[in-house]
Amino acid sequence: MVKSEIIQISDDLFLKLGKLITERYGIKMSIEKKVMFQSRMQKRLRELNMFSFDEYAGKLLNANGGTEEFSVMADLISTNKTEFFRERAHFDFLTDLVLPQFQKQMPNYRIPQMNIWSAGCSSGQEAYSIAITIEEFIRSSGFNLSFFITATDISTRMLKAAKEAIYPMGQVDDISLDWKRKYFLKSKSLNDQKVRLAKEIRDKVRFAYLNLMDDSYELNVDFNVVFLRNTLIYFEPAVQVKILAKVLDRLVDGGFLFIGHSESLINMNLPIRSIAPSVYVKKI
Ligand SMILES: C[S@@+](CC[C@H](N)C(=O)[O-])C[C@H]1O[C@@H](n2cnc3c(N)ncnc32)[C@H](O)[C@@H]1O
Repeated sequence: MVKSEIIQISDDLFLKLGKLITERYGIKMSIEKKVMFQSRMQKRLRELNMFSFDEYAGKLLNANGGTEEFSVMADLISTNKTEFFRERAHFDFLTDLVLPQFQKQMPNYRIPQMNIWSAGCSSGQEAYSIAITIEEFIRSSGFNLSFFITATDISTRMLKAAKEAIYPMGQVDDISLDWKRKYFLKSKSLNDQKVRLAKEIRDKVRFAYLNLMDDSYELNVDFNVVFLRNTLIYFEPAVQVKILAKVLDRLVDGGFLFIGHSESLINMNLPIRSIAPSVYVKKI
């Protein structure tokens, strides 16, 4: 085989692997995704010195080592698009409503603790945007709040990048100079300009592997706020309902759930009520 030749996968094998991916990770794998799958897997097959998808399926389905290869594959095919302050209205909503309400409800005699979950966090920009928003609120209001963000994903590649918290300079173009100065460090290299989140912001976030398809979620706290945005959109509706039920179990009564602007929870019969576009409150 010539090196540049594309390794092809048959419809049958694609559907078989697709079914396994859907079962394990919830991600829909209809036949329209075959070309995307085939192209994203080329590099991996070559790394493994393999010349056919049949050979790859052998490795994948082999009990020893199969599981590990499954997560490499999931990593390669999942959509990780994200950005700082994506869907900005949600961050304004945190500042204008969620945080002041939390402040009002808390008695003066103790420092309140707010726990936030960024589920399907990709490379971390969402979690860090939440941390900056809360930090800004604390600084401007003087409210003595302690907060912590748990950010989870199935992509070990994305989690590694998220922990490093280093991003191309272009990704912070839309962030004000004041916030850039306060919350980002600039690399010294002139030809490869990068930024890194300041340690005080990095310290507010813990990144961990969590598959939303798991029967139960190993998280050691319940959350006041959950961001589950632009992740469920890749799942079948029945799977979405099951995941939402488990996620809502980890949200405190009266807590807030944020979903992506292009996602919908209509007809799902969940214990929530809508409070703003793509924002919900768990019913008490
Ligand atoms: C498009 S990104 C969304 C990132 C961020 N929430 C945002 O809105 O910008 C979707 C993320 O969901 C993750 N994901 C896909 N299936 C998952 C699963 N079964 N469990 C946990 N995360 C999953 C992907 O790895 C990907 O990083």
